[in-house]
Amino acid sequence: MTKIAAPINDVLQEAAALIKAGEVVAFPTETVYGLGADATNAKAVAKIFAAKGRPSFNPLISHGFDQEQLEEEGIFDSRARALADQFWPGPLTMILPKHPRARICDLTRAGLETVALRVPDHAVALKLIETCGVPLAAPSANRSGTLSPTSPHHVAASLADAVPPVPLILAGGACAVGLESTVIDLTGREVVILRAGAISAEDIEQYLDESVTYELTPTEAPRSPGQLLRHYAPGIPMRLQAVDVAADEALLAFGPLKFMGIKGGGHARDLPPHQIRNLSEGGDLLEAAANFFAYLRDLDQPEFSKIAVMDIPAIGIGIAINERLSRAAKAGE
Ligand code: TXA
Ligand code: MG
Repeated sequence: MTKIAAPINDVLQEAAALIKAGEVVAFPTETVYGLGADATNAKAVAKIFAAKGRPSFNPLISHGFDQEQLEEEGIFDSRARALADQFWPGPLTMILPKHPRARICDLTRAGLETVALRVPDHAVALKLIETCGVPLAAPSANRSGTLSPTSPHHVAASLADAVPPVPLILAGGACAVGLESTVIDLTGREVVILRAGAISAEDIEQYLDESVTYELTPTEAPRSPGQLLRHYAPGIPMRLQAVDVAADEALLAFGPLKFMGIKGGGHARDLPPHQIRNLSEGGDLLEAAANFFAYLRDLDQPEFSKIAVMDIPAIGIGIAINERLSRAAKAGE
């Protein structure tokens, strides 16, 4: 059952306790309602993808309490500082290189070396983030492929049957902006807007010594590989639906290894530890999603000829895992 409650103090404490326990909570921002989880906890973030039924691991925005908190997650250059001073809190998301000591997890970043950061301009969101003490990963709080929610009732209607369920919606009234934030890429030499929002190129140009261009691409089909969805692609080829593993391959396993053999003889469980990662020994898809990017990265070593990947059922969040796997496999072909 989803509880919808006004964000009085006790309810905010309850929301923060849920987030710290690895649950998701819907909360208001000035743009749209977000479905939030601890951005540093991959298992919690996996629940966002599952509850939304998001078909692929699109990277998520991490919401901070203030610039100081987010300076520990991304590398701010002078442009980023100028824009943060001017537009935060507010509907501007900045893509920055990931800080070497960033706590935001791989799944939040969809395996990228960049982070998407913003400070929302909403008292409830800020209070929640402050109480949690960690940045909150939050896409819009709606079922994937449906309209973004700008009231708590939209959230309830859209995520009523979500699996896993959303335990709590903080009801903060209608969103003032009602459109998702402007997403701006500051990782390259040129400043590029990847998603249009309330803050325009002209607004941004006033605070920079350079021009700002739009590169708006359909979210699922980037026109060039350098654009929006630069998902993580391993450096070595992948072999999907593997029912055995070659001695020189790494193994990305899922579930029990009982029937996995090494080609030419031997048992997969006897491979050296650095050659094998099991996404979830118990076959738990949420756990697998949470481990996915980190484990893929562990096995992406030139000493292996390929990464053999065991079959992962395409149900629930398994659809997102499979979609990500086939993209990664294609990128390496
Ligand atoms: O207004 C908003 O931004 C709302 C509220 C809740 O804050 N959030 C939101 O999140 O719209 P979401 O997940 O629906 O959109 C995030 C967008 C996606 O288009 C995603 O591809 C892009 O930001 N994005 C996130 N991280 C990125 C990265 N590292 N590089 C490029 N694009 C990124
Ligand atoms: Mg959305």
